[in-house]
Amino acid sequence: MKPATGITGNMTAVPRQWRPGIGVALLMAMMGAAAPASADVDRGREVAATHCTRCHVVGDINPYGGIESTPSFIGMKYLADWERRFEEFYILPPHPALVRIDEVTAERSDDRPAFVHEIVLTLEDVDDILNFVRTLPSPAR
Ligand code: HEC
Repeated sequence: MKPATGITGNMTAVPRQWRPGIGVALLMAMMGAAAPASADVDRGREVAATHCTRCHVVGDINPYGGIESTPSFIGMKYLADWERRFEEFYILPPHPALVRIDEVTAERSDDRPAFVHEIVLTLEDVDDILNFVRTLPSPAR
């Protein structure tokens, strides 16, 4: 019989760069979704305008911008689990190649350089982007 693996046992199978994201997702789930202050929404809009419009169409900020192959923020709200994706986007490809969360994700090693200008955010930024995206129109299902 195989020995039972607890959470710690399982974590060894999780790629190192994913672990912080899982912790963060759990933490956010425990904190619950309190109604965001409008200042947080404004901050999130600002951060998204600065960093995400390079590839994504972000609501009315750059309706004719973005990169064709990259999903728009409003389009992603078609997906039932879009909020989780915005909580974890920095561990989902292609973002680990260029996004670093200050004091959460590991410093980029010299043999894995960012191939474009690196985006460094805080967890608060990630939270506020989500607060902002919550205010974008939801496409009808
Ligand atoms: C270098 C281009 C680029 C930048 C900059 C970028 N993204 Fe993305 N993003 C992508 C691409 C490409 C995909 C689609 C990945 C796929 O199809 O698997 C994506 C997918 C996503 C997804 C869905 C993830 C999934 O796998 O479900 C979220 C959420 C997301 N991006 C959020 C953001 C946020 C927030 C920012 C700004 C902080 C940002 N992205 C900046 C290129 C980018």
